[in-house]
Amino acid sequence: MTVKPRIGIIGTGYVGLVSGACFADLDFQVSCLDVVSEKVELINKAIPPIFENGLKELLLSVVTERKLLAATLNRQEMFDNSDLLFICLPTPSSEDGSIDLSFIENETKELAKLLKESKDYKTFVVKSTVIPGTTSGVVRKTLEEISGKIAGQDFGLAMNPEFLMEGLAISNFTKPDRIVIGAVDDTSFEHVKQLYTSFDCEILKTTTSEAEMIKYATNSFLATKVSFINEIANISEGLGINVGQVARGIGLDDRISPRFLRAGVGFGGSCFPKDVKALYAVSKQLNVESQVLKAALQANELQPQRAVDLLAQMTEIKGKVIALLGLAFKPETDDMREAPSIRISQRLHDMGATVRGYDPIAKETAQRSIPFITHCGSIQEAINGADGVIIVTEWNEFVELKPQDFSDMRTKVIVDGRRIYNPEVFTGSGFKIKIIGQ
Ligand code: UDX
Repeated sequence: MTVKPRIGIIGTGYVGLVSGACFADLDFQVSCLDVVSEKVELINKAIPPIFENGLKELLLSVVTERKLLAATLNRQEMFDNSDLLFICLPTPSSEDGSIDLSFIENETKELAKLLKESKDYKTFVVKSTVIPGTTSGVVRKTLEEISGKIAGQDFGLAMNPEFLMEGLAISNFTKPDRIVIGAVDDTSFEHVKQLYTSFDCEILKTTTSEAEMIKYATNSFLATKVSFINEIANISEGLGINVGQVARGIGLDDRISPRFLRAGVGFGGSCFPKDVKALYAVSKQLNVESQVLKAALQANELQPQRAVDLLAQMTEIKGKVIALLGLAFKPETDDMREAPSIRISQRLHDMGATVRGYDPIAKETAQRSIPFITHCGSIQEAINGADGVIIVTEWNEFVELKPQDFSDMRTKVIVDGRRIYNPEVFTGSGFKIKIIGQ
């Protein structure tokens, strides 16, 4: 039996840790490196430092029972125990929206120093979302200049983007639509490909820059699709059209597909806003400024305000108590990055409302992101005595609410920002309700 290659994961965020745990579940030996000691300790106790469905059970299996995954603060230890090293570090937005590659650059320098002293063949794989040209540019140059070795000759270099959705990351990893592997040479490609031989989807071989662009273009297209349906929703409201029916009708066209056509208060998260801004910044740098990406971002900036506009059509806002149900950027996560609830809270606060918020999972994260509102421990605490409610995140526990669950409101006014309710049910019970896109 051939010896399985050993995997190193650099950065144990939800991409790194989920990827590492899923590789370990495929019986690869995985060594995870992080710089935060608390994270390393938690992982080695099979306690996920992040909220992700199924991750706790997976870590119990691969860390505690099968001893296939361990975390360390020691880069040399991870390096010596790995044949393929996946760089899964953050690539946040800079002030001007362009990508901040400092984490990638700094780590690559450290890896290059170890590569210089090593006699073993290593393959470096960028999994972070990086703008096209990063792997073949700064990553390759840094590795070669500091180690004195040549990519595609003395070591391998590849780019293998992830398409993981928060809350669904494990199933997205284990059942991908496709595997994309950009590589500097065939040996690098084969080394990465061997990790995915048990997958039954297409494995697409590209250059590293094409792989990077596939990731950006995927996220940018999906984000644009969301902004598109949001604008169709805004037009539909003015025409008495139910955008849900429109979405169903266009989604039946297999060139469009029904997914990512759910109108709401806008997209958030750690990826869509960042990735669209970064690709837009590249288009400007290349003097081919993307009008489509610019419009998708502008439309998304405005969309959370729609919820407040709809509320203002039904009630005064100044001096009123408004409850937001749902604060995380989407259900099944505690992630507050670029969450529409932040903009909605700010706008209501600026208009003189007293704002309350409740989220079943995003509690500490929400308190840090929106410190100026009252954070409630339950739905009832949030809506008791409120003059208006806005559904901001479509958690299941809100979907199941009935008019009688809102009976403690002082005035019965609801804005459904995620299209989870049937308006007739509420208007029939004496509520004023407006639904985005209807
Ligand atoms: C996204 C990509 O889907 C994933 O492939 C990539 O690796 C990371 O970024 P994620 O950010 O976790 O994943 O969330 P996703 O489920 O894609 O939703 C992104 C945003 O779009 C959320 O704010 C969501 O509320 C919004 N959205 C999504 C809509 O408003 N309508 C939709 O129909 C779908």
